[in-house]
Amino acid sequence: MRTQVGIVGAGPAGLMLAHLLSLQGIESIVIETGKRTDVEHRVRAGVLEQGTADLLDACGAGGRMRSEGVVHDGVVLRFRGEDHRIDLGALTGRGVTVYGQQEIVKDLIAIRLRDGHPILFEVSNVQLHDIKREHPWISFLLDGASIRIDCDVIAGCDGVDGVSRDSIPKRSLTTYSRAYPFAWLGIVATVAPSAADIVYCHHERGFAFLSTRSPAVSRLYLQVAPEERIGDWPDTRIWEELETRLAAHGWSLHDGPITGKGITSMRSLVVEPMQFGRLFLAGDAAHVVPPTGAKGMNLAIREAGILAEALTMWFRTGDISPLDAYSARCLRRVWRAQHFAWWMTSMLHRFPDSDASQVQLQLAQLDYTVNSPAAAKSLAENYVGYEWASE
Ligand code: FAD
Ligand code: PHB
Repeated sequence: MRTQVGIVGAGPAGLMLAHLLSLQGIESIVIETGKRTDVEHRVRAGVLEQGTADLLDACGAGGRMRSEGVVHDGVVLRFRGEDHRIDLGALTGRGVTVYGQQEIVKDLIAIRLRDGHPILFEVSNVQLHDIKREHPWISFLLDGASIRIDCDVIAGCDGVDGVSRDSIPKRSLTTYSRAYPFAWLGIVATVAPSAADIVYCHHERGFAFLSTRSPAVSRLYLQVAPEERIGDWPDTRIWEELETRLAAHGWSLHDGPITGKGITSMRSLVVEPMQFGRLFLAGDAAHVVPPTGAKGMNLAIREAGILAEALTMWFRTGDISPLDAYSARCLRRVWRAQHFAWWMTSMLHRFPDSDASQVQLQLAQLDYTVNSPAAAKSLAENYVGYEWASE
């Protein structure tokens, strides 16, 4: 097989890149180790920055997001049992859209298949070859047959556990990595959200979080120790702990049947640069952000946009400068997101070694953030997605 861009991974980054390239008449083949149904039902992110929602709209992939997603123009910080609303709309003129990542994945897969372009699911033994040369290629197994795709360029969009990042010699990458001493236990429940806004809650027993997926479905999270096992958390224990941590004056938590639950470790990772020869990394293949800032999927989709633009220029005119600038342009956004996610994480979570004064410092930071218009605006502009005036 031969294509212009070989895309490894059918997550938000890979699928968005494939779609944007096809709009420019650039061919690609997407390969994916997972089954289509698994990829379409992986419950993960939910908050889209306005720039991400606008990009989905502009490329014709935003129809269902606009009809089923819910725009939020505020976000709540809850601490000492009191709510403090950050008015994203008033502070920035923008908001966020809550729409599940798996719904975006379904929409992009449907568009690609409708347009008659290939996605090869359930491949295995994926390997990248000659990525430093002009003719890189990908090999893998599909239904027991061994397949080779020759490409002009490879896009490594295969997430944090993929093969792309590891195909780059270690000495050519700088890796920044940090593990947080806690994890998130997340649930999906069939119950109307108990609050109109997304609620980030500071509590002495640890962080708790209330989000939504639709008017009838809630998404909630609890900070837990990294070694916790989901089997030790029967549904009643989860609801009790959520009720304790989220308790607020004049407010009550509605519970309901839990349809999905899991524990995700919290980490941060960045590799630099995001390019090696003819291999370009995008999304979680190049970086992982703690979910507290709601940035991971947004970065993945926006990087697909930047890469598609640069590849279009190169294929059309031979001008390589946007491709040469790809990594630096993305990394500036990545580090902004990393900083915001680290800041939110540090302000809201209970650290195993935190003493009483540490907790008071967090509360002082929260108090300042919700009361100072300058501090509130800083949170708001990062939450809706900070856009650099010059890139
Ligand atoms: P992925 O979604 O990981 O996709 C990579 C794909 O590549 C997968 O389908 C995988 O099966 C496939 N693959 C892996 N290896 C191979 C291989 N060798 N060959 C071929 N295919 C391969 N982000 C936000 O923006 N907002 C949020 O609100 C948010 N909340 C989150 C909450 C949680 C609990 C978690 C865990 C994450 C959250 N994120 C959030 C982060 C977000 O989900 C990720 O950043 C996003 O999935 C990255 O997309 P991606 O396409 O880069 O990678
Ligand atoms: C979610 O809805 O899953 C979600 C929202 C915001 C976050 C993380 C997760 O910061």
